[in-house]
Amino acid sequence: MEDFILHRRSIRRFQDKAVEVEKMNQLYEAARWAPSWGNQQCCELVVIEDPEMRGKLAALLSAKNPATKSFEQAPVIIAVCGMPKKSGYYKDQQVTRYENWFLYDLGIVSQNICLKAVELGLGTVIVGSFDHDKAEKLLSVPDGCELVSFIVLGYPDHAPSPPKRKTVPEFVHFGKYSTQ
Ligand SMILES: Cc1cc2nc3c(=O)[nH]c(=O)nc-3n(C[C@H](O)[C@H](O)[C@H](O)COP(=O)(O)O)c2cc1C
Repeated sequence: MEDFILHRRSIRRFQDKAVEVEKMNQLYEAARWAPSWGNQQCCELVVIEDPEMRGKLAALLSAKNPATKSFEQAPVIIAVCGMPKKSGYYKDQQVTRYENWFLYDLGIVSQNICLKAVELGLGTVIVGSFDHDKAEKLLSVPDGCELVSFIVLGYPDHAPSPPKRKTVPEFVHFGKYSTQ
């Protein structure tokens, strides 16, 4: 079986080819089945195909962001939004040390989408560095919901080599955390 985890790469150049509705529906299903805090399912997705809107969003990334050009090139951008007060809260009270569990939930949704995309022959890049306030306004994200990241999506036009990763012993600790 092909290892989608190993073969997923951040893709920043895309073919001029639309993504089929059937494949988009499979991506939404993959997102739907992600685990979430208390099964609160705080995630909301905005799917953007309109080239004019993609251009406006591209302008909210810095020119140095390696994903900027892909916003105009890729056929689809998914804005990953979430309700902060749904994850890690019980009756509006924060119940653990961390106040932003919704980011964790959205990360899992994003990974489900990115891995499913690989299975479908598609490529993605997650983008987290942009002017969030302006992007929320452009996309009419309502109060109580926050736009966290974008997933740029389409058919890949390159096959980047994998960036270096830590080796397993560099970050896996057995029994106790070891600093040696
Ligand atoms: C939360 C998050 C935010 C990211 N933001 C950006 C970004 O703003 N621009 C970009 O080009 N890549 C972005 N990336 C992609 C990473 O640079 C990429 O995942 C990393 O270099 C490892 O490469 P790989 O995905 O090919 O394994 C982001 C990834 C994550 C998980």
